[in-house]
Amino acid sequence: MHNNVETLFANLWQDYVAMTPSALKVHQLLGDGDELINDHVAFRTFNIDKVGLEKLAAHFLALGYEEKGQYNFEQKKLKAKHFEHADDTKPKVFISELLVEEFSAPVQAIIRKMVDAVPADAVNKENFLYSGTHWQVSSEEYQTLLNESEYAAWVSAWGFRANHFTVSLNHLKRYTLLSEVNDKLKEAGFELNTSGGEIKGGPEVHLAQSSTMADKMEVCFSDKSLVIPSCFYEFAQRYAMPNGKLYTGFVAASADKIFESTNVGM
Ligand code: NI
Repeated sequence: MHNNVETLFANLWQDYVAMTPSALKVHQLLGDGDELINDHVAFRTFNIDKVGLEKLAAHFLALGYEEKGQYNFEQKKLKAKHFEHADDTKPKVFISELLVEEFSAPVQAIIRKMVDAVPADAVNKENFLYSGTHWQVSSEEYQTLLNESEYAAWVSAWGFRANHFTVSLNHLKRYTLLSEVNDKLKEAGFELNTSGGEIKGGPEVHLAQSSTMADKMEVCFSDKSLVIPSCFYEFAQRYAMPNGKLYTGFVAASADKIFESTNVGM
């Protein structure tokens, strides 16, 4: 397990920017030299015991995080939970898992083969959260997964690592509105996820979110290399609830659209 929260997030960030070259450019553009505060970091996995949501969560619980919310995504066949640290400048953590049993036999077989290849003790190791893939799939298997679940295909190619980091608008000095950030990003040539509109949610649900489309990187499958979507950057603005406190949860309808930031065809 990890010595401290800072070390873990520094290691996650290092791995993430290696897969997401545009993240450093966005960081520079919005921060302009200032440190950026992350609203949350998101992870993807399968609901198979060996590597399930709870196994990933254990790393954060050991660092003082607590479970604060549960979410269902029926159409995408996903469940998720979010976790918060008592120190609210520490990023929230959003972990989802794919409901493997709801997919076709061929898809289940590929996923089970992947998970079988993960060493039994790997999940407890400090670096598991940024350990990438523990298996090799063929480009044909990747395509089989992609036909039923973009999410499953993404995990087959990228494995265990941060799927996205999220800039907290509430902590940005130079911007007060998400729309201003979006305009700045588009002006600089970044492509935004427009599924469900550029801005998902808003003051009425106490959370507004937008995201870039994932970078594209080359992945070596067992038979050949393909250039496919890797990771993306998200932006979140939180609003006060009627009780005056900032909303700290997630909005399923918005997260549903954010998942599409790694779609191949968008
Ligand atoms: Ni997110």
